[in-house]
Amino acid sequence: MPRQILVTSALPYANGSIHLGHLVEYIQTDIWARFQRMRGHSCIYCCADDTHGTPIMLRAEKEGITPEALIERVWHEHKRDFDGFHIAFDNYHSTHTPETRHYADTIYTRLRDAGLIEVRAVEQFFDPVKQMFLPDRFVKGECPRCHARDQYGDSCEVCGAAYLPTELIDPYSAVSGAAPVRKESDHYFFRLSDPRCVEFLRTWIVPPQVQAEAANKLNEWLEGGLADWDISRDAPYFGFEIPDAPGKYYYVWLDAPIGYLGSFRNHCDRHGLDFDAYWKPDSGAEVYHFIGKDILYFHALFWPAELHHSGFRTPTGVFCHGFLTVNGAKMSKSRGTFITAESYLRHLNPEWLRYYYAAKLNGSMEDIDLNLEDFAARVNSDLVGKYVNIASRCAGFISKRFNGRISGEELPKLDPSPYIAQQSQEEMQRKMEAARKTPSGPGFIAHAKGYIVQPQFDETDIVGWSQARGVEIAQAYEDRNFALALRLIMELADIANRYIAERKPWEMARQEDRDSELHEVCSVALTLFRNLTVYLKPVLPVLAEQVESFLNVAPLTWADVLSPLPPGHAINEYQHLMTRIDPRKIEAMVEENRRNLAPAPTPEPAPARHAEHQQHVAQTDEAKVPESRHIGIDDFTRVDLRVARIANAEHVEGADKLLKLTLDLGTETRTVFAGIKVAYDPASLVGRLTVMVANLAPRKMKFGMSEGMILAASDDQGRPFLLAPDSGARPGMRIR
Ligand code: 2FM
Ligand code: ZN
Repeated sequence: MPRQILVTSALPYANGSIHLGHLVEYIQTDIWARFQRMRGHSCIYCCADDTHGTPIMLRAEKEGITPEALIERVWHEHKRDFDGFHIAFDNYHSTHTPETRHYADTIYTRLRDAGLIEVRAVEQFFDPVKQMFLPDRFVKGECPRCHARDQYGDSCEVCGAAYLPTELIDPYSAVSGAAPVRKESDHYFFRLSDPRCVEFLRTWIVPPQVQAEAANKLNEWLEGGLADWDISRDAPYFGFEIPDAPGKYYYVWLDAPIGYLGSFRNHCDRHGLDFDAYWKPDSGAEVYHFIGKDILYFHALFWPAELHHSGFRTPTGVFCHGFLTVNGAKMSKSRGTFITAESYLRHLNPEWLRYYYAAKLNGSMEDIDLNLEDFAARVNSDLVGKYVNIASRCAGFISKRFNGRISGEELPKLDPSPYIAQQSQEEMQRKMEAARKTPSGPGFIAHAKGYIVQPQFDETDIVGWSQARGVEIAQAYEDRNFALALRLIMELADIANRYIAERKPWEMARQEDRDSELHEVCSVALTLFRNLTVYLKPVLPVLAEQVESFLNVAPLTWADVLSPLPPGHAINEYQHLMTRIDPRKIEAMVEENRRNLAPAPTPEPAPARHAEHQQHVAQTDEAKVPESRHIGIDDFTRVDLRVARIANAEHVEGADKLLKLTLDLGTETRTVFAGIKVAYDPASLVGRLTVMVANLAPRKMKFGMSEGMILAASDDQGRPFLLAPDSGARPGMRIR
C-alpha cells in the first residue's frame, strides 16, 4: 500500500543567507523524501521562508525598503540556493501569506475558545525614541556576572550567563542607542501549563513521535514544569495582527510552524489535494517534521499541544538532528568556515556535500562534523574511486567491442562469495543488528506499514546478492541512518570492483577468443553498477540522471533492482561522470568566506527567540565559555599573521622614528611604516624574515599609506626587538 507522507524542514528566517549548517537538514529531508518516492510512496515536501518578527522589520527599515520587499528578495535567494543543492521541495512558500494567516487565526481562535489563551500584563523594556518594545536581543549592556560590555539582553557571549534584560547594567537600545524605560502592556499567553496540555504532552512525547534521546530531554522539561508561552507582540511588528486584539501581533514563533500548514495548503490548492485528509485528527497520512535540536522545545511541546487542542492531528514524528561543526569547531566567520551555500556552489559540486552529509547522518541527535580534508578523501575514494570506477572500467568495452549492447545471453549465476572477502552474509547481518542496537543508531523505526517487502533473492548469485542488500539499505534509509546505508552500498561497490579486478576484462580484451567472457563480465559489472545507482539515487539525484542517460534506461525506481538489464540492451557512450575534489578548490572557498564574512565590528542582533527556549539552550550548551580575561580562539584567528620577507628598507625623509619597509608576502608586496629606526639600520634588515599583521586596515600616514604592521617585542625603554620565524619558514606562511 503506498503511504501518504508529508515532510517538512524548519523554515529559515527571511533575513539571512543559507549556509552549510542549514543544509544538513534540507539535505537530510530531501534524501529521505526522494527515497520514499523511489519506493512508490507519495511524499510531499513542503517548506517556506519564516518571514515575521522584529529583526526582519528593522533590517528592512535599515535597507530603506518595505519588509515585503525584503522577504521577496530573500525568498529568491533562498530558493536559488536550495535549487543549487537539488532540494526538491514540492512547495517552497512563505509565512507571510493568506494561507498561514488563515491557519494562525483558526488555531488562535480555537485555543481561545477552549480557554487556553490568557491575557496578562507584562513589563518589558521600551525604546522611548523608536517608540517600540525591545526584544531581549535588542537590549544591550554590561553583563551582570562578568561585567563584559555590550552584551545582549538574554545571555552573555563572554561568560555564557543567561539573565533577564532588566538585569543588565547600564542597558541601552541596540536600535536607537537610547536608555530603555520599563513599560507595561498586555500580552497573550498560550496556557501550556494547563493540566490538559501537560497530560496530553506526557503521553505524546514518547517514541516513535520523538527519538528516545529527545524524549529524555522533553521529559526533563515537562517535569521541571512548563511555563505559559507568550504568543503576542505589540505594534510596531511585522506579522499578523491578532483578530480580536488591535495593535497585538502573533509572535513570529507562533506562526512559523503554522507556515507548514500554510505551505501545504497552498500546495493542495494548486494540485487539487485534500488538505484535511492529511491534517484531520484521524488521518491515515503520515506527517514528519525534520528539525535541529535547538528548536525541539517548539516542535515537540508547543506545536503538538497547539495542534491537539485546536482540532488538528499531531505529527507522526519529529526527527531531530544535531548541529554542524566544521573541522571540529563551531562554524567561524574569521576562520572562513562559516560557508554560505552560494559560495560553496561557486567552487564545489553540490552532490559531494550531499554524499558527505549522508555518510555522517545516522538518524541520531549527535552533532556532525564536516572535516574538509576527510570530505575530499571520502568523496574521492567512495564516489570516484569505487562507484564511478565500475562504469569507467567496463563501459568502453561494451561500446567499442559489442556495438554498445550488453550481452544478449541471460546473465549467468555467479557465486559472489569469492568477492565478498571477509564479509560473509552472517557478518553483514551481525553488523546490521549491532548498528540497530547502538544508542546512536536508528533508535526508532518510523511507522512501518509493511513497507519492507522481502522477496526471495538468490544470494548465491552476485546479482542476487546485490538485490538482497537492497532490503537492509532500504531499512537504513527509512531509519534515516544514511551512514549505514552508504556503508552497505560501498561494501557492494567493493564486491563489484573485486569481481572486475579478479576477472581482468582488460586482459580478455587482448585475447582473441575471450569475447563472450569479456561481454559477460562487463554486462554483470554494469548491472551491478545500475543497482548501485538505484541505491545511491536519493543522495545523488543528478549523477543518477546522468547514469540513466548513459545506461539508456527510464528514471530508476527502487523496484528496478528486481530485474536485470534486459539481454542485448543498448547503452549510450560513457561520458565522464564525476571529477575528484581538488583540495585547492576547498581552500579557495574557505579563503573567500574568510575575506567576505569577517565579522562586522558591531554584530547584527540575532533573531529573537523565546526566552524559555534561550534558557534551555544556555543550560544545555556544552561548550564551556572562557572567563572574560581570556579571548576565544575565534578572536585570535581574526588576526591574520603572516611570515614576511623584508624586501627593502629605507629611511623616510622628515621622519625621526620611522623606516619604510617593503614586505614580500609570497604572492604580494606591502608597504609598511614601522617605528623601529632607533634600533635598526635599514641595510641590516633587507632579506630578513619577520612577522606581520596582514589584515590590519590600511592607514594613511603623513608619509604615505601603511598596509599592515610588523611585530616586535619592546623593553622598558621602548626599544624594539623584531620577531623572526624559525629557519625554513617562507614568505606568506600563515601563523596560527
Ligand atoms: O530557528 C529558525 O531558524 C526558525 N526560523 C525555524 C522555524 S521552524 C518552524 F517552526 F517554522
Ligand atoms: Zn558575562
